[in-house]
Amino acid sequence: MITRRALAALLPSLAFSQVKEDKKLAPYYPTPETIVEKMLQLGALKAGEKMFDLGSGDGRLVIMAAEKFKAAATGVELDDDLYKQSSERIKRLGLDGKAKIIHGDVLTQDYSSADLLTVYLLPSATEKLTPILEKQLKKGTRIVSHDFPFKNWQPEKIEDIPDDGEGRSHSLYLYRR
Ligand SMILES: C[S@@+](CC[C@H](N)C(=O)[O-])C[C@H]1O[C@@H](n2cnc3c(N)ncnc32)[C@H](O)[C@@H]1O
Repeated sequence: MITRRALAALLPSLAFSQVKEDKKLAPYYPTPETIVEKMLQLGALKAGEKMFDLGSGDGRLVIMAAEKFKAAATGVELDDDLYKQSSERIKRLGLDGKAKIIHGDVLTQDYSSADLLTVYLLPSATEKLTPILEKQLKKGTRIVSHDFPFKNWQPEKIEDIPDDGEGRSHSLYLYRR
């Protein structure tokens, strides 16, 4: 049986995990690598540009953006393990200084320097992000959203991929502020 003292010691960390759970805007469901490349191509990412992946998971978009597209890439990830795993992978690949992960909430970051944002979050999340991005983004910033459109914005282009080779179909939405 758990004692009152043990419970008291446990409560702050339980409360903290509940706060994290409340902030969660999507489960971890990675984008296949072929689609990662299509997202960055659709966003026309160029060498030296600043890109952010909002909810960066294992860091695959950030890593490809830095390695293959030579961009300055930043991921934002709430989950402790994914943050740790992706930061370690960046280090192992020698991408320090080119790619990094912020351990935090996508709703509280500053994207004003971004040239490209990539997003794979649920519709409720894109709704929460809309006013934040409308306020912060400089003119011309591109946004590529995987599967879930920003419902108040008009996409410049929609790319439908009927089968990624693994039996999954995808839709990519390109926006420009
Ligand atoms: C569908 S996955 C996408 C991962 C990656 N972007 C990709 O496309 O492979 C969503 C990610 O967002 C993260 N996430 C959910 N809510 C978040 C929040 N409020 N702030 C930062 N990351 C969040 C999840 O932990 C998960 O890794």
